[in-house]
Amino acid sequence: MSSSNKPSYLGTLNAIVNGERRGFEFLNAWAMKTKNADLAGKLKTVALREAEHAASFEKRMCELGYSLKEKEDPKFKKTMEIVSSSLDDAAKFEKLGVGQPEQEGEDKLLQLLADKSIDPQTAALLGRFIAEERDSGRILREAYQCAKGVSSSPDETVTLAGIQEQLTKLTEIVCDLQSKPTAKKPKVQAIK
Ligand SMILES: [Fe+2]
Repeated sequence: MSSSNKPSYLGTLNAIVNGERRGFEFLNAWAMKTKNADLAGKLKTVALREAEHAASFEKRMCELGYSLKEKEDPKFKKTMEIVSSSLDDAAKFEKLGVGQPEQEGEDKLLQLLADKSIDPQTAALLGRFIAEERDSGRILREAYQCAKGVSSSPDETVTLAGIQEQLTKLTEIVCDLQSKPTAKKPKVQAIK
């Protein structure tokens, strides 16, 4: 392919591959290091998604006739040091800025689709990528709560409203029992 019809979004695809590769590397290393099995599962899920995104976008670059330009990230060494350290998991989330509440404002992911020259196949890949990245963001926010020892399952959450509801039900059962005639005694005697 000549440079004149080089897609304008090639740099975006190249940046995604480099970023997702690093995403896999640090999340996978962290998943192997943590002793929290729940957390390891969540980190591994996102890590594998990152690896798959890197491969899919590199594949797309190849289909378009281009090869990946590997780019170093000077901050990545520090990221790997943090995940491999003996810091507790919650502190790792905080130091890395991972799993923190969503920032209000512009949607950086959506800007990836702003280039109107994107071919439909790449656009479909980007659409799926955006949706999965958002979901991965949710998983990592849950993972941070999990590292802090906060249950993310609503079933396990003890709330005052829940306790009150159970208490009302129990009171009703007790009142019901008290109002019933004691009809059991004759039955027990009949068995004798
Ligand atoms: Fe990612």
